[in-house]
Amino acid sequence: MKKSKKSKKSNTWKIKQHRDQFFKKSKTLGYRSRSAFKLIELNKKYKFIKKNTKLLDIGAYPGGWSQVSSKIITVGKILSLDIKKMDQLKNVSFLQCDFLEENTKEKILKFFREKLDVVISDMVADTTGNKSLDCIRTNQLCADVIEFASKILKPNGVLVSKLFMGEDFLEVKELAKSKFKKVEFFKPESSRNESKETYLHCMILKTL
Ligand SMILES: C[S@@+](CC[C@H](N)C(=O)[O-])C[C@H]1O[C@@H](n2cnc3c(N)ncnc32)[C@H](O)[C@@H]1O
Repeated sequence: MKKSKKSKKSNTWKIKQHRDQFFKKSKTLGYRSRSAFKLIELNKKYKFIKKNTKLLDIGAYPGGWSQVSSKIITVGKILSLDIKKMDQLKNVSFLQCDFLEENTKEKILKFFREKLDVVISDMVADTTGNKSLDCIRTNQLCADVIEFASKILKPNGVLVSKLFMGEDFLEVKELAKSKFKKVEFFKPESSRNESKETYLHCMILKTL
């Protein structure tokens, strides 16, 4: 059934209101991005960030997720990285680098010198204008994060990563299921309804 002009208008209004609500809230609470609320919701549901967590935040700029993590992690360790330079945050170490480069992984291992409790990734590939290609490229980043996280997490570690509901979604899900015992998907309320993004929550590594 075709939507009337009035209902289209009211949907656009609802979407704008939804955006504004989290945008305004992030400004009021001093968060660098509205994405901060996605991690707050994810952690409310799965409770994986604790005061002594050793956490890696991949694709961290401008720093909303790192801010949320640093408010909870008081005696753990946080390393954030992004291609873009991120302003400093208390208790957060930052690496400006490309996650896909091999020496980035070496730098991460050198920083922690032990296995991690949590890996979070909100990485999005640069947009090309081709939505289907953009989706595949972001999901490829997610697949790389799954591979890396399965090597550096403690056996009971947690991975949270963004991915898009695109054509290769099932492939990425199967990869996650081959590495972790428990794999779930969660779309926070603060994630735009019109966005295809969702978040993968994986826990307990499968041992070979
Ligand atoms: C949606 S933003 C992250 C927002 C962040 N979670 C926050 O709360 O402020 C996605 C980030 O992924 C980064 N990114 C994309 N590809 C990357 C790569 N290969 N290595 C490192 N960062 C990458 C982008 O530079 C961008 O800053």
